[in-house]
Amino acid sequence: MDVSSTMLFNNSIFFKFLILSTLVCLSLCSLKETDCNCKVNSGGDNLKIVNGTQYVTNKYPWLVSLQVERSNGKYVHTCGGSLINEQWIVTAAHCGYMNLTRLSVSVGAHNITNSGKHYKVAQFIKHPGYTTTPIVRNDIALIQLAEPIDRFNKEAKPACLTSRNIYFTSNELFVAGWGVTDEKEHKSTEVPLEVRMDHVNYLRCSLSWIGLLSYQSHICAQASQSSPCFGDSGGPLMVVNGPGTMYLVGVVSFGSSCAGSSPTVFTRVTSYLDWIDQTTKSYCRIDNQDVNSLPRSEIEA
Ligand SMILES: *[C@@H]1O[C@H](CO)[C@@H](O)[C@H](O)[C@H]1NC(C)=O
Ligand SMILES: *[C@@H]1O[C@H](CO)[C@@H](O)[C@H](O)[C@H]1NC(C)=O
Ligand SMILES: *[C@@H]1O[C@H](CO)[C@@H](O)[C@H](O)[C@H]1NC(C)=O
Repeated sequence: MDVSSTMLFNNSIFFKFLILSTLVCLSLCSLKETDCNCKVNSGGDNLKIVNGTQYVTNKYPWLVSLQVERSNGKYVHTCGGSLINEQWIVTAAHCGYMNLTRLSVSVGAHNITNSGKHYKVAQFIKHPGYTTTPIVRNDIALIQLAEPIDRFNKEAKPACLTSRNIYFTSNELFVAGWGVTDEKEHKSTEVPLEVRMDHVNYLRCSLSWIGLLSYQSHICAQASQSSPCFGDSGGPLMVVNGPGTMYLVGVVSFGSSCAGSSPTVFTRVTSYLDWIDQTTKSYCRIDNQDVNSLPRSEIEA
């Protein structure tokens, strides 16, 4: 056990004593509690089924597409991200693109070829601890849009974050994104797909990645036959907390290959809340409930 995991464990004990949900709202905050309902869109007659994956139009209203302008003026999807308030996106640091004027964020998109509103980027702030050696760590970044989005609606709502260091059940995790469905083809999908994944115990995952992971920085998950792939980077790993309610707990970071044998590694968002707080000033933060109400410590495992 390292120092950081001890700290996180102590934090989670502390938050057991919080009774009401806390919405972090500093002076600049314009988020209302009703903006923070953490609900995915469900039902309707617009259910898509692609290769066994069911996907409702705009199911994850916080899911955004990062796109880069090519020389022909066309925008190409490169990474996913999550809207956390009207002007900020959480994504992966490795999604950083040199020329911000060529970067665009599509908010409220489903079919990326014909929906979503594009916003220019004012800032792309990589976490100061972001590194790629000896392994990718602190792979998280915040994007400030050049202007706030018009309004929250069914298609565009902020993700909820939680300070609880989540104790996952085995199969309540979802990843969504426009990443490639075929590793060889390198073509993004037009509508996002979702993958249900099993949480992988930190110690087991650490062995797969020859001891290079850090508990503070990484969360692991795995699914049989499918996994996030190129283009899913930066997108959300979400944990289910009751019907239709999901919290953002991870950012797609890296894997051995698409659907490779090692678990996929995500950036552990709970470890970066202070930084997110300081940088963005407001986000939806839910502290009250036991996520999956299974207080099993993977640190003790
Ligand atoms: C569904 O999966 C099969 C086998 O993996 C693949 O050949 C096919 O192209 C996929 N279809 C779509 C629409 O992605
Ligand atoms: C960034 O992209 C813009 C628009 O394509 C271009 O005009 C500008 O020269 C680029 N800047 C750099 C530093 O490459
Ligand atoms: C996405 O939109 C384009 C353009 O309207 C359309 O041709 C394509 O069929 C759509 N794709 C899906 C999967 O709905």
